[in-house]
Amino acid sequence: MPQFSAHAPGKIILFGEHAVVHGQPAIAVPITQVRVTATVTPDIRGKAGTVRIQALDVDLDARLDELDRDHPLAAAVEGVAATLGISRIPACTLRVTSTIPVASGLGSGAAVSVAVVRALAGFLGQPLADEQVSAIAFEIEKIHHGTPSGIDNTVVTYAQPVYFIKKSAAARAQPRGAALIETFTIAKPFTIVVGDTGIASPTRQTVGDVRAGWGADPGHYETLFAAVGSLTKSARQAIESGHPQRLGPLMDENHALLGEMGVSSPELDHLVSAAREAGALGAKLSGGGRGGNMIALAPPEQADQIASALRSSGAARTIVARIER
Ligand code: PMV
Repeated sequence: MPQFSAHAPGKIILFGEHAVVHGQPAIAVPITQVRVTATVTPDIRGKAGTVRIQALDVDLDARLDELDRDHPLAAAVEGVAATLGISRIPACTLRVTSTIPVASGLGSGAAVSVAVVRALAGFLGQPLADEQVSAIAFEIEKIHHGTPSGIDNTVVTYAQPVYFIKKSAAARAQPRGAALIETFTIAKPFTIVVGDTGIASPTRQTVGDVRAGWGADPGHYETLFAAVGSLTKSARQAIESGHPQRLGPLMDENHALLGEMGVSSPELDHLVSAAREAGALGAKLSGGGRGGNMIALAPPEQADQIASALRSSGAARTIVARIER
């Protein structure tokens, strides 16, 4: 069996994070400037079933049987073996490298899962369909996030802009998947600047806090979720009709609603204000919040200036991404 490699991009959520966990639509796009690479190499002399896993970025170099069963990389390997009905994987080494910062809203967990699943299935000579890859990655998202909506594994697997609605628990029991996933046209490309607060913030925590807030005051939170849902629908229309500049004010409103849900932070608010002052047409936090990333809609000629204003205001790193089909 020859060596096999696979890549998976990062992602950002443009609109709808958190509300998506509660049934509202969200829009996410792949970010190809950052990515995970997974490579599986045969160990010709190794004993069948011996899988060595190296993810040196996170100081991991271990045999599969030394990892906890709910370790995300172990779960990815087991997920592929179970899906393909393989009980003993030929001896091999799985190497994972990534340029996606961890726990910052860029989808690093989902990208690792997708790249590993594709690399291993390819190495075994049985490539999986996108739906199968996404389904395995979704199970691993549950280890990372507790109750994920499924948007991260979806956008990272399909590597296309997606409009995503999680189905209700009852509808998920039906055979046709856990979500409504639509790809849509980006009629006119637009430019997003991503600014990283440099603060790692586990999504599991903020999702749990929003759920607790909703439990304590369902009426208020449902109003917030519905308002985010209607912004997301307007955003899709703006993107599909070739008016991306309209996304700016929608981002500002979405950020304010996320603040009301309690998932912004002084650092995120500071970067959002700095982007607007530097000429962004709108800005918001992106992903789980309380840390991680914010995004700003930039007139293309001002993107570098906005990125540099973000770094002067404390952003640990910035990415300028052109969003197009
Ligand atoms: O993985 P992140 O940090 O981009 O956040 C995911 C978005 C949430 O809506 C907060 C959670 C989810 O599962 O959709």
